[in-house]
Amino acid sequence: MTIRDAVPSDAADLLVIHNEAVRDTTAIWDESEVDLADRSAWLEGRLSAGFPVLVAEVEGVVAGYASYGPWRPKSGYRHTVENSLYVRSTHQGRGLASVLIDALIVRAREAQLHRMVAMIESTNTLSIELHARRGFRTVGELTQVGQKFGRWLDLTIMQLDLD
Ligand SMILES: CC(C)(COP(=O)(O)OP(=O)(O)OC[C@H]1O[C@@H](n2cnc3c(N)ncnc32)[C@H](O)[C@@H]1OP(=O)(O)O)[C@@H](O)C(=O)NCCC(=O)NCCS
Repeated sequence: MTIRDAVPSDAADLLVIHNEAVRDTTAIWDESEVDLADRSAWLEGRLSAGFPVLVAEVEGVVAGYASYGPWRPKSGYRHTVENSLYVRSTHQGRGLASVLIDALIVRAREAQLHRMVAMIESTNTLSIELHARRGFRTVGELTQVGQKFGRWLDLTIMQLDLD
């Protein structure tokens, strides 16, 4: 496995990973798959703003990615970022997410950010525990603030103190 910074041509692989999470999981609270233009614009936006998009490449395939971006748009929130972390179902359980999140936290510290926030659907215990093992603590839960697959979704809010 290689961890590297994403380049614009990775957008097609990011599209596959994103749409799989839309179709099959409650990690993305959206019912509509997106197209390549959407993911290209997202990637370009992140890179041009100086935010990292790290990909895990396995035998030439981008099998997962981790990124962070602004938590909220107003300037007062600029020292806080929100992360995202996704691994293709075919490549889960091999440690990719662990390596990606560790590398992402290193980048955030190098960028001298203050807080990293993770917003996780509350039944996603694997992700909550993965974050907790890196020092994220649960600071709250919003109940029934979303809906997907015919059920209400709760949102667990975690934060990591970076400095
Ligand atoms: C959550 C997700 C990113 C995990 O990716 P992954 O590559 O399969 O995870 P890893 O193999 O790196 O395992 C992560 C941790 O869980 C542990 N783990 C993995 N599978 C496990 C299992 N079945 N039971 C218990 N622990 C498990 C690993 O040992 C690892 O532990 P560590 O934190 O001590 O390193 C992946 O399942 C995914 O993309 N899911 C859909 C999208 C999603 O939920 N994203 C997160 C949104 S916040």
